[in-house]
Amino acid sequence: MKSHFCFGFFASLILFCYCSKVESKIIQETSAFEVVVPPSDFFLSSICPSGWKKQNQFCVIDYKYIVSLEKNGGLGQPLPMPKLDPRVIDLGRYLFFDPILSGDKQLSCAHCHHPAYSLSDGRKQSIGNGGIGYGPNRKDGVTLKRSAPSLWNVVYMKNLFWDGRASSLEDQAEGPLYSPEEMGSSQEIIESRLNALPFYQKMFRQAYGVKEKKITAALVIDAISSFERSLVSFSSRFDKWSAGDKKAMSSEELLGYNVFRSFVARCAECHPPPMFTNNVFATIGTLDSGERDYGRESITGQELLRGSFRVPTLRNITKTAPYMHSGNLETLEEVINFYNEGGGRGNGASNDLRIHWHVRKMDLSEKEIKSLISFLGTLNDETNMPKIPKFVPSGLPVAIEFESYHHRSSK
Ligand code: HEC
Ligand code: HEC
Repeated sequence: MKSHFCFGFFASLILFCYCSKVESKIIQETSAFEVVVPPSDFFLSSICPSGWKKQNQFCVIDYKYIVSLEKNGGLGQPLPMPKLDPRVIDLGRYLFFDPILSGDKQLSCAHCHHPAYSLSDGRKQSIGNGGIGYGPNRKDGVTLKRSAPSLWNVVYMKNLFWDGRASSLEDQAEGPLYSPEEMGSSQEIIESRLNALPFYQKMFRQAYGVKEKKITAALVIDAISSFERSLVSFSSRFDKWSAGDKKAMSSEELLGYNVFRSFVARCAECHPPPMFTNNVFATIGTLDSGERDYGRESITGQELLRGSFRVPTLRNITKTAPYMHSGNLETLEEVINFYNEGGGRGNGASNDLRIHWHVRKMDLSEKEIKSLISFLGTLNDETNMPKIPKFVPSGLPVAIEFESYHHRSSK
């Protein structure tokens, strides 16, 4: 009891000093990490995040440049118009960055989907439970078998995870939250912890109305999913070019785009604009680094889908190395060379894979390869990057890495 008290006291002291630097009025120290008293004038944001505009009470996507998804070989469907409550999005942002949701209070979603790494983690394979730090410097802990995808435009994804085992963000979130290898939490842990925090009580009341007396795991997941849906990226130079600003892309980039959509490279068959994914599964024959990954086959049992994965988006792709489900390819040069050599066919993939017929040896010239890489850079747009909260209601440390963030965002 006594040592508990001492720990609590020092922890609060450290917390107090740390937090008073950033948001002095919020913190009131107590015997545990977990009580941060909300200031009476705290309000969740009722302003729509960047990239969204207000329509009545709700936020809808502000498609500045994209006129239709049907254009440019798109998905042949009307533009999705999800309606989100700005306060729920803001609540989701706090939860996304708060390690309180993990069993050991060490790991938040943001540790593996961090703004500094374009909502991924810059790692070949992510490190889950028991690890320390985040991003490429994260160490110890359980190494997961796959790499963390970035979360840009997940609102449009019909199949989530590399093997598509979840079909909604709500289903998806239970994966990392409750997996013992990742956040090692449970519905009970989340509910008992959050209901004990006056700050979260206040936030949930603001987001969901006064009637919501009890914080439930379902509401937590709802808020995080709203936040994730808000992460849209549609104002790249490519989008400006598509909308008619012909100066938005250089001639080299344009050459790259022509290679991208040519019958030789065929990239656009699977990565069509504007999403740069066709949302389906394909086998290209990427190698695994350790144990063999059967991809979609392990979900459906269909041998035809052995080693197939959901086609990933290419938006912000220059910022999310290393690449592929296994993180096996370090750079975009390596990716293009891999395709140029015939994908798995030219790289010793197992011959029981049915590699897609669009993936075959291409003989692209050095110039074409270079231009293709330049073109991929036109898909960058991080203008709607969410702000990292300066504090989270649990008072636990938030994953902030200023140096690397500034280093990368200045590129
Ligand atoms: C330990 C690192 C780690 C943590 C923590 C983590 N994720 Fe992930 N996330 C991953 C990895 C790795 C994958 C890919 C797993 C797979 O496909 O099998 C992934 C996949 C996803 C996807 C699917 C994206 C897509 O394009 O298919 C979403 C959405 C997601 N995570 C959201 C979250 C949320 C929300 C949280 C917090 C509740 C979270 N993640 C916590 C590593 C992590
Ligand atoms: C037959 C469909 C198909 C074609 C054609 C195709 N891709 Fe892919 N692409 C995929 C799939 C599936 C993956 C994920 C594979 C994996 O993780 O093992 C992928 C992954 C990628 C990645 C890594 C994405 C990430 O987040 O890690 C890049 C970059 C990429 N493709 C670019 C291209 C380029 C450039 C071309 C044309 C030269 C191309 N692709 C052609 C299906 C395709």
